Amino acid sequence: MAKVLIIGSGGREHALGWKLAQSEQVSEVLFAAGNGGTMGGKLRNLPLDGTKAIAQEEIARCIREEGIDLTLVGPEVPLMAGLVDFLHAQGIKRVFGPVQAAAALEGDKFFSFELMKEAGIPQAEGVCCRSQAEAEAAIRTHTTAGGIVLKVRGLAAGKGVVVCDDVTEAMAALPRLIASFGSDILVSERLSGPEFSIFGVCDGKRVIPWEMSFQDHKTLLDGDRGPNTGGMGAFGPSPVASLAMVHRIHQEVMTPVVEAFARRGIPYTGFLYAGMMLTPEGPKALEFNVRFGDPECQPAMVMLESDLYTLLDAAVEGRLVQAPMAFRAGAACCVVLAAQGYPEEVRNGQAIEGIDKAEDISGVTVFHAGTRREGEGFVTHGGRVLGVTGYAAAGLVQARQLAYDACAQIRTEEGLVYRRDIASDERLAASIGHNDHTGRKKNA
Ligand code: AMP
Ligand code: GLY
Repeated sequence: MAKVLIIGSGGREHALGWKLAQSEQVSEVLFAAGNGGTMGGKLRNLPLDGTKAIAQEEIARCIREEGIDLTLVGPEVPLMAGLVDFLHAQGIKRVFGPVQAAAALEGDKFFSFELMKEAGIPQAEGVCCRSQAEAEAAIRTHTTAGGIVLKVRGLAAGKGVVVCDDVTEAMAALPRLIASFGSDILVSERLSGPEFSIFGVCDGKRVIPWEMSFQDHKTLLDGDRGPNTGGMGAFGPSPVASLAMVHRIHQEVMTPVVEAFARRGIPYTGFLYAGMMLTPEGPKALEFNVRFGDPECQPAMVMLESDLYTLLDAAVEGRLVQAPMAFRAGAACCVVLAAQGYPEEVRNGQAIEGIDKAEDISGVTVFHAGTRREGEGFVTHGGRVLGVTGYAAAGLVQARQLAYDACAQIRTEEGLVYRRDIASDERLAASIGHNDHTGRKKNA
């Protein structure tokens, strides 16, 4: 029986561990550091925040001492910091997650733009600019009736992309972006169309598709208003992208990425995440991430029927074969309950009531993110607190209803914040309505 170590502490990591614990091949799932939900049964937390660069030595020691068979790195930060490279150098090879050079696909938008260009992946036209003057010239040249998009080169926690209607707006946004994030700016053509997310599992040489599309909801408030967050909800499969579309993206986008890395002598192992837009000219890639999405992972794990350990084991051994994955019929929908104040400052330590009642609803799984165990109960410990996930064989409408029925059972004294329109008919219609062929995104 295998012992698995998961690096990370969010809802994504709880969902991955929950799924791995269902495998008969897995004896124990350890987390560095995990959260209030990643304890009990086969799950155990280590007193070690594995996302911190200074923790690398300790992670390697713990992998040896605990006899870990497979390590999975959940979030992007340790991947970009080179955790996988470090473990490889220590002789620890069974790690699911890309090496630092591949993690640049998420951490460096210039690198990602150039790699897509080299690999012939459909994307927005763009110019990598290294000074304000260059960016201003690119804005003047490339702004169309649809507008223009400015992207900072590095990670910016959802604050690094500005979608502008015209030159004036872009010229006003540019100095603010440069002041916060530096003068490397990707100036891009503004595309229009519904967005969806596609995932792949990579073994260093090839990628197999997660045969289901997802959509997430990035802003805090209903109607896609308010500040950007890590994600307030997600569901799959998305009606925007059929299974045939998933296969098309696999061929036109995912496979060329992994092959481009292979040509550079960089084996890509881990999850690969493509943020896509269905434009009037066909699907185009907006961005890549080098990990599973959070909260997309929560519905993804609920939908996966086959054994996740078998899949990860094959991936770290470099022997993935086509179609080892089976999915349940129907759909899953995750609604994130966040603390008051998120995505800014939040107050921790609020007692959470009703998780058990929510989980008593058949088809509901409550994944923990920002929670901590205190005595017999749970208290809040972070911005995104829980990912309440409904599954229904009948489909998305029913899955969403279950998630909301469950959310209604959960409370804290100051109250948790959540969107009421995750996977709603209005949001689905609005996302499809974006594809209005005028090149304009309708802002709610
Ligand atoms: P990214 O981090 O690159 O995925 O960008 C964040 C969000 O900005 C996306 O989810 C889109 O809504 C929007 N966006 C990014 N690039 C473009 C583009 N070229 N055209 C229109 N919208 C975009
Ligand atoms: N849900 C968006 C992300 O994980 O980046």
